Amino acid sequence: KTLDDIGDIRGKRVLVRVDLNVPMAEGKVTDATRIERVGPTIAELADKGAKVILLAHFGRPKGEPKAEFSLEPVAKATAGVLGRAVGFAGDCVDEKAAAAVAAMQDGDVLLLENTRFHKGEEKNDPDFVKALAANGDIYVNDAFSAAHRAHASTEGLAHVLPAYAGRTMQAELEALEKGLGNPAKPVVAIVGGAKVSTKIDLLSNLVRKVDALVIGGGMANTFLAARGTEVGKSLAEHDLAQTARQIMIAAAEAGCAVILPVDGVVAREFKAGAANETVAIDAVPQDAMILDAGEKSVETINQWIDRAATLVWNGPLGAFEIEPFDRATVAAARHAAERTSEGKLISVAGGGDTVAALNHAGAADDFTYVSTAGGAFLEWMEGKPLPGVEVLKR
Ligand code: 3PG
Repeated sequence: KTLDDIGDIRGKRVLVRVDLNVPMAEGKVTDATRIERVGPTIAELADKGAKVILLAHFGRPKGEPKAEFSLEPVAKATAGVLGRAVGFAGDCVDEKAAAAVAAMQDGDVLLLENTRFHKGEEKNDPDFVKALAANGDIYVNDAFSAAHRAHASTEGLAHVLPAYAGRTMQAELEALEKGLGNPAKPVVAIVGGAKVSTKIDLLSNLVRKVDALVIGGGMANTFLAARGTEVGKSLAEHDLAQTARQIMIAAAEAGCAVILPVDGVVAREFKAGAANETVAIDAVPQDAMILDAGEKSVETINQWIDRAATLVWNGPLGAFEIEPFDRATVAAARHAAERTSEGKLISVAGGGDTVAALNHAGAADDFTYVSTAGGAFLEWMEGKPLPGVEVLKR
């Protein structure tokens, strides 16, 4: 059920789970994307006269109040970004919360303190769920990026209050359905990032679902090494050679093409501006490391993007955070953005680094959908059910 089904909510207390786990430096929010994303749900509910009570976590305070994990500065930032007053209560369940909720007028917005200041949150403890539910009549979950957690505020509340998906949750689920649920074919996946070890489940699932899998970043080295290519000093998990071979066999059996780099940009040091050269992938010097995919690899990747009707992307193709090793990621991202703008491609991307990489390439705005989720996006790509979503389907 979405907000379309919520009915008359004037005067009702609506508990809205949002993800305000935003990056901060020196008390200031450095990327407000997650705040912007929950704007539509908050505006819709407040404009319909509901009392909008926001629940969120911040960081990992391990069940205890800790000043550095307070949501108070985030409440201020949220007010600024959304251009409306956002109150703040110093706890999410005690009398402070109850008093702040009791003082609300219709259309007011209030953020309650970090739900993870209580052990019951991560334990999904029924008593804590009850305490949270005491402040609301209706529950709305707009935090897709926290939906892989079966916590009190992401899962438990949906069992005890009438529950609805917020607009961002709805948009995420619709986009993801287009990406892997029921995608236009052929489907190409790009998976990059440093390590295979963190993405084994992801790769194993994808080879069964997509027509082609482009492997990039540090993890490509593990695959190259596993098939006997010398990768010099490149980051590679040699102990995962067998796993990498199994994934390649599974891909062949499923008819999924696996695309590995055919050339690489190599350097002797891992730092911005390091002297570098592009070499064929079977000519990596023993004392060098691959820090990016080369031009020929990008050409191949772009050809696969041209063939694709749907593209799902997680993880950069090189060490994009240090120039000039961002070139492959930037070139492929821009190419995908262009195909999307021309109406020829549905492109869905997600994962912490990926969003940063697409923003860096200036490509994010042209993608069909860029998820703000990190862990939840990965678990979804792995084909795992997300507790926060499953409970809303019931
Ligand atoms: C995220 O930042 O990915 C979500 O907010 C979940 O945070 P967590 O990994 O601490 O549960």
